[in-house]
Amino acid sequence: MPSVLVVGATGMVGASLSRQLKQQHPTWPLTVYFRNPQADNWFRNVVGVDRIEHGTFEDAARVRSLAAEHDIVINAGSSFDPALSQAIVDGLKQRQGGSKGTLIHVSGGGNFIDRRTDGKYSAASKVWNDSNEDDIKKVNPSMLNGAADRIILDAGNDGSINTFIVNQALTYGVAEGPLPSLGVGYKILTGNAQSLGFVPYIGDGSALLSVIHIDDALRFILRIVDLAVMQEVIGSAESRYYIIYGERVAWKDVATVLAKTLHNKGVFPSPEPRSVSFEEAGEGEIPKLLGSNMLMQGDRSAALGFKATARSILEHIPEDLESHTF
Ligand SMILES: NC(=O)c1ccc[n+]([C@@H]2O[C@H](COP(=O)([O-])OP(=O)(O)OC[C@H]3O[C@@H](n4cnc5c(N)ncnc54)[C@H](OP(=O)(O)O)[C@@H]3O)[C@@H](O)[C@H]2O)c1
Repeated sequence: MPSVLVVGATGMVGASLSRQLKQQHPTWPLTVYFRNPQADNWFRNVVGVDRIEHGTFEDAARVRSLAAEHDIVINAGSSFDPALSQAIVDGLKQRQGGSKGTLIHVSGGGNFIDRRTDGKYSAASKVWNDSNEDDIKKVNPSMLNGAADRIILDAGNDGSINTFIVNQALTYGVAEGPLPSLGVGYKILTGNAQSLGFVPYIGDGSALLSVIHIDDALRFILRIVDLAVMQEVIGSAESRYYIIYGERVAWKDVATVLAKTLHNKGVFPSPEPRSVSFEEAGEGEIPKLLGSNMLMQGDRSAALGFKATARSILEHIPEDLESHTF
């Protein structure tokens, strides 16, 4: 029975993944790593985990030693923390015993933005396809999640550990768990809007964002866990990089539904989003996302049976944010 360590277990992906993994594989020893002890009861009583470890991503020595004790590590915590990924890789390399350690890493579609700054759809923009290994070879540290992905791809290619990367689009839906998280995607969109005082889109907002529902993503991640355990690992690390998305939506359409939803919840006086320039769209990396097309294609994932079934994010936003207090 493979032992599994889930890192970032209290998050949108991590909590549901832990519960469903234990449900599907009750005999696999499951350890969860997170920092908030308020979540202990849920993991003990609802998920039925075998072991709870508290700690932060910054405690590299601890992450390393925990990774060294497990057959499989699933990083559902951070795709943009290369030090965390390095600690996991180093730990898995230090495992005692015959078999190689396995890392299953959840990465994000922010890698594949076209870096336009005008918010316009472009038919000429690159569509990144997981079945094209040359596309995946281009993943690099200048991308939003590229530094961690690169460490993992390199470790997979040097053959010291088995690696699988699931790169999912911006994720919507409702998380389960003790302290349900909005998830990184909604946190970025709503947090940025709150700091601006309105919901922005750039230019005409016709640029396309790729999105996926959490249930569709989880079904596929669990499929990859099974694959990692059941099948012999062969080929390059790039051949185990899977892209998943459910639909592509225009930024203006997302902003329109989000603005109406936040208005109905009393967050903003106006139910309308606002068209702004790149410079006015927020802080840090966020305008890069809002101004860009994110065009992903998962032919390799589809060949493994991935098929999105959820309703559109445009229908989901009001219900996903309903129970959240802003
Ligand atoms: N949601 C999306 O739109 C999306 C799309 C594509 C890829 N991804 C990737 O999928 C992964 C999971 O995303 P998510 O939406 O589930 O994220 P999330 O809900 O924000 O959860 C993040 C998890 O990491 C933990 N965490 C964060 N910083 C930590 C630290 N310094 N030390 C210890 N724990 C820490 C959080 O713990 P606390 O509960 O204590 O904060 C939580 O368990 C991330 O790598 C993300 O980039 C997400």
